[in-house]
Amino acid sequence: MENLSTKYLGLSLKSPLIVSSSRLTSTLGQLKEAEDNGAGAVVLKSLFEEQINYYVHSVSSTPGYPEADDYLANYIQSNSVDNYLDLIRKAKKNLNIPVIPSINCFSAGGWMEFARHIAEAGADALEINVFFLPVDRKKNSAESEKLYFELIESLKKSVKIPIALKIGFRFSNILYLIDQFYNRGIEGVVMFNRFYEPDIDINKMDIIPASILSSENERRYVLRWIGMASAQDIRIDISASTGVHSGQDAIKYLLAGADTVQVCSVLYNKGLEHLKTMNRQISDWMSLKGFKSIDDFRGKLNYVNYQKPSVFERTQFMKYFSSYE
Ligand SMILES: Cc1cc2nc3c(=O)[nH]c(=O)nc-3n(C[C@H](O)[C@H](O)[C@H](O)COP(=O)(O)O)c2cc1C
Repeated sequence: MENLSTKYLGLSLKSPLIVSSSRLTSTLGQLKEAEDNGAGAVVLKSLFEEQINYYVHSVSSTPGYPEADDYLANYIQSNSVDNYLDLIRKAKKNLNIPVIPSINCFSAGGWMEFARHIAEAGADALEINVFFLPVDRKKNSAESEKLYFELIESLKKSVKIPIALKIGFRFSNILYLIDQFYNRGIEGVVMFNRFYEPDIDINKMDIIPASILSSENERRYVLRWIGMASAQDIRIDISASTGVHSGQDAIKYLLAGADTVQVCSVLYNKGLEHLKTMNRQISDWMSLKGFKSIDDFRGKLNYVNYQKPSVFERTQFMKYFSSYE
């Protein structure tokens, strides 16, 4: 096996593959299984801002989401914050790989003070998944994005461990946003989250959730931005997420400049043991190409290192469509 070790958020990982936040990372048994199968790190299933608020203030409803009350009340009861802190402590005691808890939030609210408890429980870093839907047509994009900056500024005051922000790709200028994260001391960015999206069942004439698991062709929404973000002259770590189903997929993101690669859907389909196959696929490819370390090829095909950076740009768009018969 080649040397797959890498650095992420200042932590040493023995593989660039991270099991991303989901129910697959919600018990000590699963976390141990992930480690045994070669995960470089684990991101725990998210604790929701609503759960923390409930815990801190003992409120049972979320303003603006009254229809979510019953569901939320049940969810909060069966997924208590104490259990979460306990899972972090146990994971730290039993695992040798970095343990990264995750908080899913939608505001720069009072939950942030609580993040300190997560750090005190022994977390190596913290991933923040901001699920804020800009649905107010009177608010411009700069106003919406301000939420992220306020959130980071407050969070940085209460938490000293490294922070990665997990974001979606629908921003007017992702590179600007990442630059602003970096200026505010954020250590990493997860590109990208895959949000819940609605679909329509035309037989039932009803709204249903779109596929919860990703497909490999969703990488097309991610690759350009990794290639461009990793080429900036700032040192913010990049963890690629969405559509990684094999070692070969992970190699593509590493070549585009990602520091680590997160995996979720394929592990639901194939089990955590698929990590072993993926590490093997990366190692075999490295042997074939003569690379001795991940750093030997990371970013080789990003916006600054590729000989024709225009492939990431508009001119390519013109060629692409005019050449298709
Ligand atoms: C069943 C399921 C549960 C998930 N739960 C969370 C979560 O709690 N927090 C989070 O940040 N992302 C969550 N995600 C998103 C994944 O971490 C990941 O970013 C997304 O699925 C894209 O990666 P993939 O293409 O490898 O699946 C979940 C995904 C799935 C499929």
